[in-house]
Amino acid sequence: MSENVKVQFNECFREANLCTKRYRVLMGGAGSGKSVNVAQDFILKLMDLKYKGANLLVARKVEQSNRNSTFAELCTAISRICGEKASSVWEIKEGLMQMRCRITGCRIIFCGFNDSRQKEKIKSLNFPHGKLTWIWVEEATEITESDFDILDDRLRGKFENPELFYQITLTFNPISGRHWLKKRFFDTVCDDVYTHRSTYLDNAFIDSGYHNRMINRKLFDPDGYRVYALGEWGMQEGLILTNYEVCEFERDFDSIVLGQDFGFNHANALLAVGFRDGNIYVFDELYEYGKDTAELISLAEGRFDKKAVMYCDSAEPDRIKTWRRAGFNAVPVKKGAGSILAQIDYLKSRKIFIRHVCINLIRELQAWRWHADSSGALTDTPFDGFDDAIAALRYAVAHKITDGGIEFLR
Ligand SMILES: Nc1ncnc2c1ncn2[C@@H]1O[C@H](COP(=O)(O)OP(=O)(O)O)[C@@H](O)[C@H]1O
Ligand SMILES: [Mg+2]
Repeated sequence: MSENVKVQFNECFREANLCTKRYRVLMGGAGSGKSVNVAQDFILKLMDLKYKGANLLVARKVEQSNRNSTFAELCTAISRICGEKASSVWEIKEGLMQMRCRITGCRIIFCGFNDSRQKEKIKSLNFPHGKLTWIWVEEATEITESDFDILDDRLRGKFENPELFYQITLTFNPISGRHWLKKRFFDTVCDDVYTHRSTYLDNAFIDSGYHNRMINRKLFDPDGYRVYALGEWGMQEGLILTNYEVCEFERDFDSIVLGQDFGFNHANALLAVGFRDGNIYVFDELYEYGKDTAELISLAEGRFDKKAVMYCDSAEPDRIKTWRRAGFNAVPVKKGAGSILAQIDYLKSRKIFIRHVCINLIRELQAWRWHADSSGALTDTPFDGFDDAIAALRYAVAHKITDGGIEFLR
C-alpha cells in the first residue's frame, strides 16, 4: 500500500509524527494544520501492519461534535491517502461513526463526555482485535482534567505486538493561560510529554485570504492574534468577561429564557439560560452552521423549552415568525444605541455559570476582547466576528436591563 501513498505533510509536524512518548501535546494557532496532520498520521499508522493490534479512540467534549470535525477529517484523510481504493481498504460506518481498516483490522471509534453514561462507556470499551492504544482528543481545552484522567487510565497493560506504544494526542488552541493543560503539560517538565507549537505560518496549504484575515486581526485584536494566529497562551488582558465559571449545577431556577442569534454562514446560536438568586446559568447550547430554520427547529424540538420566552435578533422578523409557528415563544430584542454595552455591564455584574457542554459559548468567551485602536490601546468596543453564542447570551439577558436603550417588541 505505502508505495501508492501521495499524501503530503507539513514539515513542522515531522518530529511530532515520529514521537512515541505517552503524551503528544500539539497546541497552536487556528489553521496551523494540526487536525489534518493528526488525521493523516493516524490513518497511515492504522493501515500499517507494523502497528497491528492498535485501535484509536477519538474524543471531544461533546460526542456529536466529532461528526463534523474529527470524523470528517479522518474520512478526508482516507480518501487523500487511498484514493479510489478507499472503500476496499477502509470500512466506514457513517451512522455509527466507526471505521475499520480491512488490512490490519485496526478500528477507530468516537466518544464524548457529555454525561456520566458516556464516561462509563469509555471505561468499558473493548475491541475485537488488540487493545485501545491511541487516543486523540481534539479541542482538548474543552475537556476537564478529570475527563482526561478517565482516558489516561484506559491505556495500560502489556502489548502482544512490541511495536505498539500507548499515546494520547491532544490538539488545541491555547486560549487561556489559566487552563489545566498548561499546568499539567507545560509548567512542569516531564520525560513522557512531547509538546509542539505551530502557527498558520507553518501551514503550506493555507490560502491568501486566510493570511489577510490574520494580518487584519493583528492590527485590531493583538491579544486575539497572539492566541489564534500565533498559538500562544491567552492573556487575561483585554478580555471582556472573566466572571464566569464552567461547572455542573442543579437545574432549579427562578426563571428560564432562551436567547438566539441567527446565522447561516456564521453560526446560529441558541442558548438555554436560567436565573437564580441574581446569578446566570447557561445550561444548553445549540450551535450550527449552514442550517435553515426548519432544520434548526427540528434540532431544538424536545430539547429547548417552548414555554420559555426566546429572545432573538430583531434583524430577521421572518425567522422569528417561523419559530413562533413551530410553537416557540420567540420575540425580537430591539437593539438600541448603547444596548451592547448595557448588556455587557449587566453580564459583568453577575456571576455566570456555564455547563461544560456549552463548548462554543465557552470558546467564544475565552477570546472575546475589547477592540484596540491603532496605538494598541483598548477601546470600549468589543472585537466582533467570533461572538455568535455571546450575542445569544446578550439577547437572553437584555430583558433584565431597564435602561441602556433596550425596548421589546412583540
Ligand atoms: N497536510 C495537508 N494537506 C493538505 N491540506 C492541508 C494540510 N494541512 C492543512 N491543510 C489545509 O489547511 C487547513 C487548516 O488546517 P487544520 O488542520 O484544520 O488546522 P488546525 O487544526 O490547526 O486549525 C485545512 O482545512 C486544509 O485545507
Ligand atoms: Mg483543528
